[in-house]
Amino acid sequence: MSAANGSAGAAPRFREPCADVLDLVGWTPLVRLNRVTEGIRTPVYGKAEFMNPGGSVKDRIGLAMIEEAEEAGVLEAGGTIVEGTAGNTGLALAIAAASRGYRCVFTMPDKMSREKVKLLRAFGAEVVITPTSVPSDHPDNYVNRARSIAESTPGGFLADQFYNRANVEAHYRTTGPEIWEQSGGAVTHLFAGAGTGGTISGTGRYLKERSPDVRVVCVDPAGSVLAGYFESGEVGEGEPYKVEGLGNDRIPGTLDVEYIDDFVQVRDRDAFATARRLVREEGLFVGGSTGLIVHAALAEARRLDDPDAFVVAVLCDWGERYLTKQFDDEWMRNNGFLSRRRTTVAEIVAAKIEPLPGLVTVTPATPVRMAISTLSTHNVSQLPVVVGGECIGSVAERTLMAAVLADRKVLEADVGSIMEAPYPVLDERADAEEAKRLLTGGSHAVLIRADGELDGILTRQDLVRSLAAAP
Ligand SMILES: Cc1ncc(COP(=O)(O)O)c(C=O)c1O
Repeated sequence: MSAANGSAGAAPRFREPCADVLDLVGWTPLVRLNRVTEGIRTPVYGKAEFMNPGGSVKDRIGLAMIEEAEEAGVLEAGGTIVEGTAGNTGLALAIAAASRGYRCVFTMPDKMSREKVKLLRAFGAEVVITPTSVPSDHPDNYVNRARSIAESTPGGFLADQFYNRANVEAHYRTTGPEIWEQSGGAVTHLFAGAGTGGTISGTGRYLKERSPDVRVVCVDPAGSVLAGYFESGEVGEGEPYKVEGLGNDRIPGTLDVEYIDDFVQVRDRDAFATARRLVREEGLFVGGSTGLIVHAALAEARRLDDPDAFVVAVLCDWGERYLTKQFDDEWMRNNGFLSRRRTTVAEIVAAKIEPLPGLVTVTPATPVRMAISTLSTHNVSQLPVVVGGECIGSVAERTLMAAVLADRKVLEADVGSIMEAPYPVLDERADAEEAKRLLTGGSHAVLIRADGELDGILTRQDLVRSLAAAP
């Protein structure tokens, strides 16, 4: 138990009672990253914004925007707060609104996790889901939708985080000074992302006022238009991406590029992989936007290789709201972010519930009557017809039964006279996906060859059972 959490020594944050939940916002810890920085001499710290009561960096702006609106007289008692949000700003506003008695209506693009929707509704907010894939000037875009709802709601106040300077000022007044003090003025690099740009613009401005050499790096999802705009001044065509909360398809009014030294683009795949590493190697349960930021911070820390540097990365939000996303292996696989664990056909055969001692076969000369009793003796539905170790045909229970019911004399015929096409053969090391392709493409079974010999058989039933048993 270290001094930082209030046993002895350093004054803990909450020695005095708090007036309300909003006193819990800010003064989040700066945590050293250790295992993900193995082999990197440059120290890297995370600013743990998930420690805010709403679990994200946005808690700092929720209260700030409400207080500014109250002072300006645009938000009055009994009013309704309306905002377009990736979720976290909504939560920050909902917490402040709960303690101030305001109603909330949020618009949210459908790409955001359902955990976030449930969270906002848990705070009593109304949530309107809007299509993600509409242009930024479309009336159904979540920011535009929020604007029209606010205009048509009596007492409606649009927080307008993408243009509200209170957003930037909140970070200039709080996040910047905290990092400066917690690093003892030693911070050399700030890594953050930009959704509205409020965090990086406010924090960056403060740190540069204290030390102009502090390097401020904005980490942008591949597909966002912000990095391109920083390079060329042009707003390009955005591409869809999965990371939530960062990047943009327009240039927000709260992004002050004059305080940003560089933009780095990172792919979804690297963001999610790094977020999963932070959980499993540092015990820091964080979201994808944090993975994106830390991925770039680690790359720069490795390049710097300087024990005297002091790199700070913003850990934006709590990972629990992404349990159905990057922390769900199936979702990761379905989105191509995690290679499917390669299962071989041999593994499926080995996992059979009632594995047979060997491959049960018949020859073309086997009487149909004997083939039928072989099927029932071994409780199987398919039999390969094999000559000289090669499959030259097949007989299935359903076709044999049908032939015998049509003509009883078939019982005395030999299998060769009524057999069907041979089964395809796969090497035991073949990928199960290949067997799946064959079995869903018309084959009733697939034979397995091991060490050059036909060694096993895989039916659709076996495959379905193994898929059903898979985690
Ligand atoms: C998860 C997450 N990370 C980062 C950010 C970016 O913060 P800012 O809007 O201050 O640029 C957001 C903003 O919504 C967010 O939700």
